[in-house]
Formats: sequence, structure tokens, C-alpha cells
Amino acid sequence: MSEQPETPGAATHDPDRPAALLEFMTTGWAVREDPLPEPESAAPYRAARRAALAQHFPGERLVVPTGTYQTRANDTEYRFRPATEFAHLAGSHEPDAVLVLDPDGSAVLYQAPVMDRSTPAFFTDRVYGELWVGPRPSLEATSARLGLEARPLEELDKLSGPARVVRGYDPRVEALFETDEEADAELTTFLSELRLVKDEHEIAQLQQAVDATISGFEDVVRQLDRAQETSERWMEGVFGLRARVEGNDVGYGSICAAGAHACTLHWTDNDGPVRDGDLVLLDMGVEGYELYTADVTRTLPVSGTYTPCQREVYSLVLDAQEAALAACRPGADFLDPHRAAMKVLAEGLERLGVLPDAHAALAEDAQLYRRYTLHGVSHMLGLDVHDCAHARQEVYRKGTLQPGYVLTVEPGLYFQPDDETVPAELRGIGVRIEDDVVITEDGCRNLSAALPRDPDAIEQWMARLRSSHA
Ligand code: GLY
Ligand code: MN
Ligand code: MN
Repeated sequence: MSEQPETPGAATHDPDRPAALLEFMTTGWAVREDPLPEPESAAPYRAARRAALAQHFPGERLVVPTGTYQTRANDTEYRFRPATEFAHLAGSHEPDAVLVLDPDGSAVLYQAPVMDRSTPAFFTDRVYGELWVGPRPSLEATSARLGLEARPLEELDKLSGPARVVRGYDPRVEALFETDEEADAELTTFLSELRLVKDEHEIAQLQQAVDATISGFEDVVRQLDRAQETSERWMEGVFGLRARVEGNDVGYGSICAAGAHACTLHWTDNDGPVRDGDLVLLDMGVEGYELYTADVTRTLPVSGTYTPCQREVYSLVLDAQEAALAACRPGADFLDPHRAAMKVLAEGLERLGVLPDAHAALAEDAQLYRRYTLHGVSHMLGLDVHDCAHARQEVYRKGTLQPGYVLTVEPGLYFQPDDETVPAELRGIGVRIEDDVVITEDGCRNLSAALPRDPDAIEQWMARLRSSHA
């Protein structure tokens, strides 16, 4: 009898497993008879996306892997998050799965089958074993839920020949086929552009993510006192709780930036103090169960009341955001909201005594205002926080807005604490206001409108939440 048979997925610190134990572990289990799940409401929308993909590349094999676990350290993995292209077209959350559109346009999902209890791996494999991580869905259940033919992953190995593959997720899958770098990049670009217009199901998903995000902001405001006793991390943790309970996770690392940390655009260390009298910039988004994410920012007074100076800067950013929102309509340039906001900000910076001449600062060959505005006003939003990132410039950044586009509108002003070009009383103030809008037939709809933006409304909202702890 072998004392230590090979045990796939085991860690070096696991106790030895005698063959007799492994044998014993594979017997005596009742047969499971799980009913098949209902089809997901997203299934027909995903089928329509696959049909559009097949139509764009007729007669070709198209391969979309979801990727696998990323190692955090040694034998510990990060929580798996499906590849965006795969999630958009297939919807399974299982690692290692691969969607293949055959040359005739039919779609097959290759997925690891259930690791059943007839082999010891279900007990030894820390990454995939059922006793370690829970049961995986059967191919039949996956097929019923997603409305897709599902086959065992090992059958993928029988495929070969020319194909376009979405690269960057699964090198093993990339190596199976004869591919061309440029052709594969065209596939990724097409899939990014396919996500530009959101269908009604996606807009409903984004609204759910935004609604959960608004609840998360309320949670944080209710617990601002605890953050003052501890650090910015309290806010990150409180929001993270909402994100994990009402969604899949946060859609990006929460930015919980008190005081001058607000001048660091992506402050995610979140380890600073939260002081009365300071502002706190909160840029946070819940990623929903189907992986669509919100991306919302509010800049709040820790005390509950903006100082006159903070209010002046805040109101200027709000005016810029209003100008940008007014420019969000079909047919407008993607950059029109940005241009509208920058004009308002530059003129306001002149009034604040930061810029001597707004007109000169706005000149194309100068753009000096950007020392204080730092970033663009919009990006596409969807399954990725910075969605559609592989779309061509001419249809995204240099294109026009279309009904169904979902984008952020997020101007900001950032006065670094050691910036000698800025009046002393403004230094260390950072303000961003960010909402998520969908372009409609005649303008836009603000998905995050229920979260107050007006400074008076914010003060009243904070007072209500902090007095009632409701
Ligand atoms: N939260 C990242 C961004 O606003 O783009
Ligand atoms: Mn954003
Ligand atoms: Mn943001």
C-alpha cells in the first residue's frame, strides 16, 4: 500500500493521506438529484450578442476564454473574476471555461465538469475540490441556466486549426489554435465596441449596481464617526460589506480619501486619518452579481457642513458637472461634456485667483488649467469600470455619443498641498463629483441621481443619516 499517493492540488503542509483513506473517501455518498435551474433572464441578450459576433466574422472559429485563478501567494488564489468579454457573451462564472463559436456560428461552452466524489481529488484539491471550495455546477445545469450547449473542458483539446482568440486570459487556449496577432486584436476590438451600446438588460443591471452603491454611501455616512476614531479604512470596509452582500464585489479599489489625500486621484491605501473640518472624497462602486459596476464619487464634509472655502470649490465643480451633463446627448462628441466642464472650471479658476487668464489657459497649445483638473470627465462604464477600452479611437474618444451608451461624468479640482501656484487657503482641497449616465434618445438619464449632489442637499442628507442612524 502506498503511504502517500499523488494528491492533485494538495499543499505542502497538508497531512499525509494514506491510500486506504482516499479509497474510503470515495465511497458511501448518496446520489444527488439537483433539479435543473431556470434559464437566466440575461440568456437571450447574450445569445443576440453571440449572433452579432458570428455575423461579423462569418465562417471563422472564434474563441473567448474566461481565464483562470491568479495566485496571491504560494497556494492561495485571488477570488476568480471572469474575463469581461466572456461574461458579456456567455455569463458563466466558472474558471477555465472557454466559449467557442464554430465556423457555422453555433456556440459551445467548454467547462470543467463536476469533480465528482469517485476520485480523491474532490477531497485533496484545494483549488477545485468540492470539499474545499464547494460544488461546481454540472454541465447540464450550466446549459439550462445559460441556454448554451456545454461540453467537458477536455474536449476543447480536440480542436485545432485557424481561429481568432481573445488573448491575455489563457495561454493554454491560445496555444491550441493557429492564430494571428492582428486578427486576434480585431476580435478584441470588435467585442469592446459591441459593448458600447448597452441593451435594456444591461442598463437594468447598471441601475441595480448604482442603487446598491447609493446604499453603500449611506452606510459610510452613518459610520463617519467610527472612521474618525480609526481611519479611512473604516469607510472602505463599510462600503465593501455592502458590495459583497448586494453584489459580487467592489468594481474597483474603493478610493476613500480624507483631507489632502483627495488630491491623489486613485488613493486606495486608505490608511489616513479622517479629521473634523476636512473633506472626504469617496469614489466607490458596487459590482453587481452579473458583474456590471457603478462608479460614483461624492466629496463630503466630515463635520457635516462645508466651510465657505470648501463650498466655493465644491460649487465650481458642481457647475462644471452640470455643464457636462447638459452636453450628454446623442450626436454630441464624446469629448463635448469634457470641453464644457473644462471651460467652466478654467473660468472658475480665474475667479478663485488660481489662473491669471482662463482664456489663455484654455488655448489648445497651453491647457494650463489641467494642472488642477488632472483627468478627463468621462469614460464608458459597464462590465469594466473603464469599459470598452479596446474600442477604436474614432468610435470612442473621437466618436459621438449614441443612445444606450453609459458613461461617467466626473469633473474634479485638485489643489496639491504644496502647490505654490495656488492661494494658501485652497491647498490640500480635492473635489470630484461623479455620476453615471445613460444616453437616451433626447439627452441623458442620470442613473445615480438619487444620491444628493447639491451642497445644501448633501448637508441635509448627512444630518438625517447621522442623527437617525437609520
Ligand atoms: N474610479 C475610477 C474612475 O473614476 O475612473
Ligand atoms: Mn470614473
Ligand atoms: Mn470613480
